[in-house]
Amino acid sequence: MCTNAWSDRAVALLSADGLRHNVREIRRTMKKDVQLCGVVKADAYGHGAVPTARILKEEGVSWLAVSTAKEALELRSAGIDGPILVLGVVPVDFAETAGRLAISLSVHEQAYGEALKDAAVRAGTAVHAHVKLDTGMTRLGYATVPDDLTDTVTGIRRLFSGTGLIAEGLFSHFAASESDEAFSKEQIRRYLSVYERLRDLPFAVRHIGNSGALAMCESPFNMCRSGIALYGGQPDPLHPDLDLKPVMSVFGRIVQIKTLSQTETVGYSRTVRLPAGARVAVVEIGYADGVIRRWEETGYMLVRGQKAPLAGRVSMDRLVINISELDVSAGDYALYFGTDKSGAVLSADDVAARAGTISYELFCRISARVPRIWESA
Ligand SMILES: Cc1ncc(COP(=O)(O)O)c(C=O)c1O
Repeated sequence: MCTNAWSDRAVALLSADGLRHNVREIRRTMKKDVQLCGVVKADAYGHGAVPTARILKEEGVSWLAVSTAKEALELRSAGIDGPILVLGVVPVDFAETAGRLAISLSVHEQAYGEALKDAAVRAGTAVHAHVKLDTGMTRLGYATVPDDLTDTVTGIRRLFSGTGLIAEGLFSHFAASESDEAFSKEQIRRYLSVYERLRDLPFAVRHIGNSGALAMCESPFNMCRSGIALYGGQPDPLHPDLDLKPVMSVFGRIVQIKTLSQTETVGYSRTVRLPAGARVAVVEIGYADGVIRRWEETGYMLVRGQKAPLAGRVSMDRLVINISELDVSAGDYALYFGTDKSGAVLSADDVAARAGTISYELFCRISARVPRIWESA
């Protein structure tokens, strides 16, 4: 029986105030003439793309970036206007829709760019294109090493002769912005080697930086794409220089409490043994909700601000915590990460580190069956 308005089991509470705070904090670190692009791909890293985008728009964030055509359409269908950039590779027959709905597309190689241009011409439209340069990530993008420079520059120039594609952006992506400044500078150098040869093309939007490189976004760059910092994850948890607040707080509801009357093992494979007298709580959240199973070795949850270590394996729908000595009642919510009602914080970076992963994965894993509830103070 649900005794609380949140949910009868796992729930993710989302703080609009936290998101707004993070936008302002990010802006504080950026150069004044650089615009912010809010990265809301992957359902805004699990936070919910549409509500997140609405708040970003209210905060005056000019650009939004997504990864797929479907993600861009979701935003447009919800009435989100303004520039949207698709960072991933979409089918070329999306050109007609992209032109009609003013969705900007990335072009990562010549054959794709030519096919997209042909599709746009056939559909009687023109697509705003951001050309992606591979400056050292060795992922999507035109080659920028000296041997390939001529082909890259000639190819890009050919894309924008005639109709079908409109030159709008030239961009790249750092491989280690949070940890390797020297390599980031090399990536900028490679970007500039192409940009300098294409100065006559009207690339109005020039971008390379992400959350780990807010301060590195300076002329000729005039946009920075930030994702994780919006959601309160430190780009480099070892050197936190942003005062970020959690946006998502994930809880599981305690549905049963028991005191052991004899020594017992807990959970699958009987990995943990607790003595008589130990108190445990069964929490309705499991790996099907997104809890990382590996975290069980060092994991703990917060209940009423108190640390409750995990007891035994995380199962699909629930887990067990040791609440011996703690003041806990059935119906309480145990915090997986975020901020609890008492104001205590268990940061996503901390939980991720204990689980051998990063906050990005922690957020994205929270599954669709966990209701998202937005709160503003
Ligand atoms: C191309 C691209 N730009 C920007 C971002 C945002 O990066 P961050 O979340 O580190 O700010 C990502 C994230 O994966 C990305 O793939």
